[in-house]
Amino acid sequence: MNFDEILDLRGTQASRWSLMEKVHHVPQATGIPMGIADMDFRPPECATRAVQGMIDRGDFGYYGDDTAYQEAIQWWMATRHGWAIERDWILTNHGVVNGVAIGVNAFSAVGDGVILFTPVYDSFAAAISGAGRVVVECPLVNNAGRYEFDFAAYDAMMTGRERVVVLCSPHNPGGRVWTQQELRDVAAFCQRHDLILISDEIHQDLVYPDAQHTVMAKAVPEIQDRLIVVNGTSKTFNVAAIRTGNAIIPDPVIRARFAASRAGMYIQPNAFGKTIPTAVYTPEGAAWLDALIVYLDANRRLFDTAINTIPGVSSMTLDGTYLAWVNFGGSGMAQEELVRRVKDVAHIAANSGTNYGKGGESFMRFNFATPRARVIEAVARLQAAFSDLQ
Ligand SMILES: Cc1ncc(COP(=O)(O)O)c(C=O)c1O
Repeated sequence: MNFDEILDLRGTQASRWSLMEKVHHVPQATGIPMGIADMDFRPPECATRAVQGMIDRGDFGYYGDDTAYQEAIQWWMATRHGWAIERDWILTNHGVVNGVAIGVNAFSAVGDGVILFTPVYDSFAAAISGAGRVVVECPLVNNAGRYEFDFAAYDAMMTGRERVVVLCSPHNPGGRVWTQQELRDVAAFCQRHDLILISDEIHQDLVYPDAQHTVMAKAVPEIQDRLIVVNGTSKTFNVAAIRTGNAIIPDPVIRARFAASRAGMYIQPNAFGKTIPTAVYTPEGAAWLDALIVYLDANRRLFDTAINTIPGVSSMTLDGTYLAWVNFGGSGMAQEELVRRVKDVAHIAANSGTNYGKGGESFMRFNFATPRARVIEAVARLQAAFSDLQ
């Protein structure tokens, strides 16, 4: 594994590069993509070998027996997260957000409220509104550069029309790995208001050494009768092309209702989406991940140290994820101006904080899962683009 290797995906359909001009208006020739959340690294060799095996065998047919796939997930969740799951708890969908969307559809009706702790990953709101449900934004509190919940405020906001909570754990953006106490507080909130809890744990493996992610089902076993955990391999191993993720649902009643909602959509994930996870949820995949975390951790420190030298600008300290969340609030600059400088002056494609709901104003999100040389170049460009700040 060589995370310093520069992969040249310019001119391909890769989203990071092909949408740079179209969406961010940053030229591909000079731009640095720090937007969409996948990485500029080759996936582990075990993933490549598995796909190569399909190619060598000429095996492009329907995927059959799920046993090895599900056993690989069981192994991963037990060895990396200490959670013993049954094979039949796993329902495999077309990606993690697809699992969230199925859960929202199964447990709410058109017009019902679905709660998000904002700012938060923007596709949740898209899926909720797309299904005719109402996004209820419960704002996180930015306490000295660290997001926290405020359940007293959220309790006061409830109308009785809310049905579901979508929790992002670890949180994107802001990178919080919630403590066990915070997870217990989320669970208690769901119990108080009779809400189904969808815990999106796609970033479960991208956690830095000073934090410890706990699967919601483990942190609060009593919440399992209203819990759907969604996760997958796409972020961890940089294989988002598989468009496959899992809903893991311990409770048979919740599972049956989720499955019934899903049955009407005829969801059958593709063979690549089963083959790659089976190959990476292994000791070889685990060793690659451990090396990745060391590399990302150094990128995180480099990025934060350089950004924090710009007066009025600060990068939140991440417990997990490779998505730096940078607060330009102290610069006194309007959102449009800082977006303009990042894009037109620094030639960096990053995400405006306003995409993520309330509380995202004055922020931008930068993906630093890229070779170190690019991080160094990016921070130099950002320092130059904001060099007039005193
Ligand atoms: C919290 C979270 N959930 C889900 C996804 C995407 O999952 P998928 O592509 O499997 O739908 C992302 C991607 O950035 C994410 O950050």
